Amino acid sequence: MIITTETQVRDIAVEVPTAIPVLERFGIDFCCGGKHTLAEACTRRQVDVDPVLKELELQQQKTNTPEVQWQNVPLKDLADYIVGRHHAFTREQIHLIGGLMAKVEARHGDSHAEVAQIAKVFAVVSAELAHHFICEETILFPYIGKLEGDQRAALPPMFGSVEQPITRMMADHDQAGEELRELRSLTGDYTPPAAACPTWRALYRALEDLEQDLHQHIHLENNILFPRALAQAKGTA
Ligand SMILES: [Fe+2]
Ligand SMILES: [Fe+2]
Repeated sequence: MIITTETQVRDIAVEVPTAIPVLERFGIDFCCGGKHTLAEACTRRQVDVDPVLKELELQQQKTNTPEVQWQNVPLKDLADYIVGRHHAFTREQIHLIGGLMAKVEARHGDSHAEVAQIAKVFAVVSAELAHHFICEETILFPYIGKLEGDQRAALPPMFGSVEQPITRMMADHDQAGEELRELRSLTGDYTPPAAACPTWRALYRALEDLEQDLHQHIHLENNILFPRALAQAKGTA
């Protein structure tokens, strides 16, 4: 693909997955805000589009073949990958962060008011994600996995339309995206105070890793899994 300033950010992430770290580095939202063109996304982040475009082109030259073409693998395999890789990572990370957060709050909560706010937003987003994953794993993904192949004829009309649960899941993604932005803002772009202890530094690093993984995870669902499932359900795949 030829990337220009008018290319939609989600198309860049879908067609050139190795460009994702470049987008991440410039803080460009390719999952929930993926509909924007590269120029629009840069304006939103207040970064100059030219160096971003240049880096994307360089990255594209370096790696012409993406590791996995998710557009072409069976939907069930993609759903299994998301659960095995991203749901598992998020659950582990939430557990890790919970422990670090409790320590930082106990030691520094009294002198740093932002710590309690961070803990509050984290508690909300982690509870929402736990519920969201259960909905995907027990209802939506098994359904999507059967949209292709022999089992399709046996599918019960469980949702009326697969569009409804997908719309709900995407609304959850937007909500999580908002909360991640709030965490980023409350932590000053995950910059610990100069005198922060190693636990505090580890906490911010773990939160940032969680954010980065969720961006890739939501991208795979919003921009690849769900559009492909909708097309398959409508018989246009
Ligand atoms: Fe998911
Ligand atoms: Fe999801």
